[in-house]
Amino acid sequence: MLVKNLAPALRSAQAAGGALLCSVTQLDGRLGTGQNDHLVDPLQAGLAGLVKTAAKEWSGLHGRVIDVAPQWDDATCAEAVVDACLKSGPVELGLGPDGDVTLDVLTQPEPRPRRALEAGSLFIITGGARGVTAACAIELASRQPGLAFALWGRSRLEPEPEDLEGVEDEASLKRLLLERSGAVQTPKELQAACARILAQREIRATLAAIEAVGAKAVYASVDLRDEDAVATEVTQLEARFGPVRGIVHGAGVLRDRRIEDKTRDQLDDVLDTKLAGLRHLLGTLRLEELRSLNLFASITGRVGRVGQVDYAVANQALDKVAWQLAAQLPACRVQSFAWGPWDGGMVTPALRQTFVNEGVGLIPLQAGARCFADWALAAPGAHAELLVGVDLPELAAADALDGKDGRDLRHVDLHPDLPVLTHHRLAGEGVLPMALGVDWMVQESRRLGLGLQLNRVENAQVFQGVSVSEPLTLAVCLESSRVEGNDLRQTMSLRDSSGRQRMRAEVVLSSEAPSRQSTSMDALPASGGYSSEAIYGEALFHGPLLQAIESVDGLNSDGIDVSLVRPEAAGPWLQDEGADWDPEGALWLDSAFQAMILWSRDQQSAPSLPSRFGRWQRFQDWPEVAPRLRARVRSVKGAMITSDICFLGPDDEVVALVEDYAATASPQLADAFEDHGNEPAPKG
Ligand SMILES: NC(=O)c1ccc[n+]([C@@H]2O[C@H](COP(=O)([O-])OP(=O)(O)OC[C@H]3O[C@@H](n4cnc5c(N)ncnc54)[C@H](OP(=O)(O)O)[C@@H]3O)[C@@H](O)[C@H]2O)c1
Repeated sequence: MLVKNLAPALRSAQAAGGALLCSVTQLDGRLGTGQNDHLVDPLQAGLAGLVKTAAKEWSGLHGRVIDVAPQWDDATCAEAVVDACLKSGPVELGLGPDGDVTLDVLTQPEPRPRRALEAGSLFIITGGARGVTAACAIELASRQPGLAFALWGRSRLEPEPEDLEGVEDEASLKRLLLERSGAVQTPKELQAACARILAQREIRATLAAIEAVGAKAVYASVDLRDEDAVATEVTQLEARFGPVRGIVHGAGVLRDRRIEDKTRDQLDDVLDTKLAGLRHLLGTLRLEELRSLNLFASITGRVGRVGQVDYAVANQALDKVAWQLAAQLPACRVQSFAWGPWDGGMVTPALRQTFVNEGVGLIPLQAGARCFADWALAAPGAHAELLVGVDLPELAAADALDGKDGRDLRHVDLHPDLPVLTHHRLAGEGVLPMALGVDWMVQESRRLGLGLQLNRVENAQVFQGVSVSEPLTLAVCLESSRVEGNDLRQTMSLRDSSGRQRMRAEVVLSSEAPSRQSTSMDALPASGGYSSEAIYGEALFHGPLLQAIESVDGLNSDGIDVSLVRPEAAGPWLQDEGADWDPEGALWLDSAFQAMILWSRDQQSAPSLPSRFGRWQRFQDWPEVAPRLRARVRSVKGAMITSDICFLGPDDEVVALVEDYAATASPQLADAFEDHGNEPAPKG
């Protein structure tokens, strides 16, 4: 509420040259990750969620999260904080006697060893009868027969009125509810009555699914915000099942509003469900009996999100509570799951569309539930904060870097009517092709390159896709550069107007041309694959300007071979390209991504979008005749497909290579692909 009231002051400071919002906590001087059971009130850490969200809501506001060692005296703390604020650096910084601490994202292999809990062990799962937590509860039950589950939610579970039984569709349900005299009076009451019936059905279905795999399941209507109700229910459960061995705290609500529009009640609803609810629950348990303690947090806590300040605060606090409890309870596996968005639960169809537009992948229900069960049954371990989702490590890493100085080299104004955006539309909105973003970074790097020539592009990543529904400006930035032997490696990025990195790539310039390569990719056997009409008529969303695939010459589980063509609809991609702009590099690179969409649709039944590539290199000029392309799949892990792609000239010489290209496949993209609104592909 303080920050809400400070909004006018922050805005005018912004207009006058710059505004800083900095939170200072005293967790442990290590951002709460010091595995210290004496963390000073881990709830302080919620402030980090506030700062990171505010920095997203007010563009130009500089957010800093600083955690100072509690043992430092006030004067030392003050000096260190002021010093850190005056320097650029990562958004989150720990300061203490052992030096500065920043956060990093590590990739974790599947947890080993797993462990078996005693038969009959009781799990309390808050929010576990519905949404994504229900899917997790069912998966956990199926892993270890004989566990017992107490599922809690606010909804009451009452027998279904006989006249509604078997009525599945919502319209008929509502008609029947209306026909009952006096039961509902207003549309709002009707909606609520219908939602109640559907919620109760979901609860019954979860109970049945858990029992079907040989576990016990009971449901109780318990509002976690009510301390007495929680204590009474725990006492009854322990009398029946023995000590509570596992907790999954999945209860949560959303009350999305920007900080300036947020009310106290909305804030309380979100914070109390997650934080007071957990306090009430842990306050009634014998913690030493616990073997698995799982808190459902969110990537929003880690990086902030517009409209979700309360949710970011609550989830960030849960993350740090997990670190503290992990240190306190060595016999218990303790972790917070900072989930990315799931394809289910509180992700409504509208929210889902937003994520698709942002290029953020959704966690499939089954895959997320399996991941949860793997970790819930893991032995106690070192890392208490897990980020789980599609491409989240990259997203989180990009956020950690925000705030470092980037030098803007060029500003690109984008508006929805630009030709390239009208020919590259997903879910009805123009989306910046990754290939074009890479091309801009290459162009700007070369302009700085002191006569050096382009050797290769490495480690290119899309952190967040750029959808253009209204005019916006992107900056092409030089993040850093360093000399490596004969090479100059320039780390480039595309940043949006609030300074967030959307794409990043390392452009390597050199005094030497890249050495020529041969390929071991033999042609695939000829196959039907796709008809030429189906390529752009059904499978791809690209408009005529980007239609570079002429035919599919071979396609099987190993990869895909295609013949390329210069599109008939040649023309500018933007409106003010420099005279020296040569669109071919971007076009052919995009065609590689298109080819892998054809592959993923055919072999994985899911469209895909580019996430990153390891290297992109051209060894000679593009030939007069359009090149042929061969892509070979290296691996498919979950939603991530990794491949190598080469472009061949008329004599089978390798003209260019894309190595370690990672695309994210998801059946959920299919709707966005359909809704492209492009002009039809030219015939012939
Ligand atoms: N879905 C996602 O994409 C996503 C992403 C990141 C994190 N998460 C986290 O994962 C958890 C589950 O999310 P979801 O998508 O499954 O949400 P959901 O479908 O809205 O389910 C939330 C559950 O919490 C229960 N609940 C809410 N307030 C409660 C209270 N005061 N006392 C007891 N139970 C309460 C609800 O039951 P009643 O309605 O019956 O009260 C419901 O079962 C949440 O903590 C959420 O923050 C979800």
